[in-house]
Amino acid sequence: MTIAPVQRSTSLGSSAWTDTRLILALEEVVEQELNRHLKVAKEWMPHEFIPWSQGRDFDGVLGGEAWELGQSKVTPLGRVSLVVNLLTEDNLPSYHHEIASMFGRSGAWGEWVHRWTAEEGRHGIAIRDYLLTTRAVDPVELERARMVHMSEGFESDNAHSMLQSVAYVAFQELATRISHRNTGHYAGDPLCDQLLAKIANDENLHMVFYRNLLKAALEIAPDQAMRAIADVVTDFRMPGHGIPGFERAAAQIALGGVYNLRIHHDDVLQPVLRHLKVMDITDLGPEGARAQQELGVFLDGLNAQAVKFEERQAALLARRAARQAAQ
Ligand SMILES: [Fe+2]
Ligand SMILES: [Fe+2]
Repeated sequence: MTIAPVQRSTSLGSSAWTDTRLILALEEVVEQELNRHLKVAKEWMPHEFIPWSQGRDFDGVLGGEAWELGQSKVTPLGRVSLVVNLLTEDNLPSYHHEIASMFGRSGAWGEWVHRWTAEEGRHGIAIRDYLLTTRAVDPVELERARMVHMSEGFESDNAHSMLQSVAYVAFQELATRISHRNTGHYAGDPLCDQLLAKIANDENLHMVFYRNLLKAALEIAPDQAMRAIADVVTDFRMPGHGIPGFERAAAQIALGGVYNLRIHHDDVLQPVLRHLKVMDITDLGPEGARAQQELGVFLDGLNAQAVKFEERQAALLARRAARQAAQ
C-alpha cells in the first residue's frame, strides 16, 4: 500500500491522526460502504443508449463524410458542456493513479478503488460513443483536445492529506453528478438526457460512498476532518480545470445554468454540509472550531457572490433575448 508520507504542519499537536492511521481506522467503514454500494448499484448497459443506426463513416481512411456543424443536433450549450464533461472523464488514468496512491490497492480500499475505476470507465466510453455516432461535436477537435488534456495529466490539490482527499471527492462527485444531469437537461436530445441521467446516478452513488466515509472521519478525528472540509471547500476547483479553453467553456456553462456559483453553493456544497451537519457540530477543539468558523464565513461570502452572479446572468440573458428579438 502506498501512502502519501507528507503530513501537513498542524497545530493539533502530537495527538493528530496520521494518514496511515486514518486509512487503517476507516478500513471497516470502507468495507461496509463498499458492500452497501454493491447492493444498490444496478448494472446498466451504456451501448443501449447509443443510436448506432444514426452512425456513418467519417472522411479519412474510409472516405466517408467529413463532420460539419450542421450535422450536430445538440444545442450549442450542450456541445460545450458535453465536451468538458467527456474530457474530464477521459483523465481517469490520472484520477486512478491519485486515489490508488492515496488509498492503496489492497483490502477493502483497493476493492473500492478498482470498482470505482470500472464504473467511471463507462462514462467516457458512453459519452464518446454518443457524440461520435450522432455527430454532435467535431471529432478532430475532440481528439486533439483529449491528447492535450491527458498529456498534461491531473494532479490532485489534496494529495498531501487523506482527509482532504476524501472531502474533495465527496463534493466533486456531487459536482459531476449535477454537471452531467444539467448538461442532459439543456442538450436538446432526450436520449442524451437519458444517458447522462444514468451517468449522474453513478456519480451520486460515488458521492454517497465518500460522504459516508467523511461522516466516519468526522467522528474519529473531528478537528482534523473539519479543517480538511474547510480547506477543500474554500479552495475548490473542478477536476477539468486543465482542459484547453476551460475558462471560456466554464463561462458559457455558468451562463447557461449547467454549473455556476449558485449551483455550486446550493446543489453541491450545502447538501453535503447539511447532511453531515457540519455547521452544527459542537464538540470541537480550538482548531476545529476555527475551521468551522472559516467555513461559515466563506459560505456567506460565496452566497453573496452567487447573488451578484445571478444579477449579471439575468442582465446578459435579457440582452441576448432582446438582440435575438431584434433580428
Ligand atoms: Fe464519471
Ligand atoms: Fe464518479
